[in-house]
Amino acid sequence: MAKIAFLGAGMMGQPMIRNLLRAGHTVVVYNRTVDKARELEKFGARVAATPKLAATGATVIWSSVTNDAASAAVWAGDDGALEADLAPGAFAIESSTVSPDWVLHLRDLAVARGLRFLDCPVAGRPDVAEAGQLKVFAGGSAVDVDAIRPILAGVSKGVMHLGVVGSGITFKLIYNVMGAIQVAACAEGMFACEAAGIDISVAAEGFSAGATGSPHVVRHARYMAEGVHEDPVQFSGRMRIKDFDYGIQLIESVGAQSVIGHAARSVFAQMVEHDMGDHNDSELIDTLRRAHRRNGK
Ligand SMILES: NC(=O)c1ccc[n+]([C@@H]2O[C@H](COP(=O)([O-])OP(=O)(O)OC[C@H]3O[C@@H](n4cnc5c(N)ncnc54)[C@H](OP(=O)(O)O)[C@@H]3O)[C@@H](O)[C@H]2O)c1
Repeated sequence: MAKIAFLGAGMMGQPMIRNLLRAGHTVVVYNRTVDKARELEKFGARVAATPKLAATGATVIWSSVTNDAASAAVWAGDDGALEADLAPGAFAIESSTVSPDWVLHLRDLAVARGLRFLDCPVAGRPDVAEAGQLKVFAGGSAVDVDAIRPILAGVSKGVMHLGVVGSGITFKLIYNVMGAIQVAACAEGMFACEAAGIDISVAAEGFSAGATGSPHVVRHARYMAEGVHEDPVQFSGRMRIKDFDYGIQLIESVGAQSVIGHAARSVFAQMVEHDMGDHNDSELIDTLRRAHRRNGK
């Protein structure tokens, strides 16, 4: 069993940590807001005051935090995990959705400290994480990915190896841009039905049953039709914008285009403009209603 230092006990980190504990691993948790880490003590976690203390002696150091700045803080900040007295050959895993540039920089920092680095971003919301059913998009050497599979199995039933370090986050960002485009299309389609006088519960049924019914559309059309959204928020409008920004930048950096990505980002940007950035992404339809009213329709 591994001795895991887990950095970040947010919406994703909490269920991932619970599942790692259930799988029999030792987990020491660091979270910037310590109360969230303390909630995990009753499941058997220990709490550390800094990432450095959490990582000391760990065989796996694993992070799930908001963005590049948060990842930099927990790994490379004052009292960051990379400052710890590290176990030789320990694994460093970054599961946050961050930029590929940061992942490659972090790999260099981790390797310089003798760690085996993998990017392992995950797909699936907190409820999927709770069920231990996340998809993991792994980037790293085949040897390292195979060595870490038994531990990833604690949070995932599907580990895909995409290639060298950086490939996992590259795929994840493109995957998230595609997914968010579907959510934006769902909100626009549902609201267009409402504006045209169609009952949106019937519209949700139609979109879900037809060729339009991707898992994203099925899930979000139901929330939009019922007017009942995930509480607590599982994925906010602001998180969508963060992923679009990293994702579109990546897509364009390899000379590909993201015309629809830019358009869908501008739809989500309206959530922030309407002070709804911290609301669940399915509440995008309410932003469209507000914009419609503002336009005097
Ligand atoms: N939610 C989803 O459905 C989902 C699905 C797949 C992937 N993801 C990705 O998984 C990662 C975590 O998401 P989440 O939903 O768990 O987010 P969350 O609930 O908002 O948690 C964010 C975590 O990052 C920490 N953090 C933020 N800024 C920090 C800083 N400057 N220094 C140190 N810690 C900082 C937070 O600490 P505090 O508690 O102190 O704020 C918290 O532990 C993100 O990269 C997200 O894109 C999310």
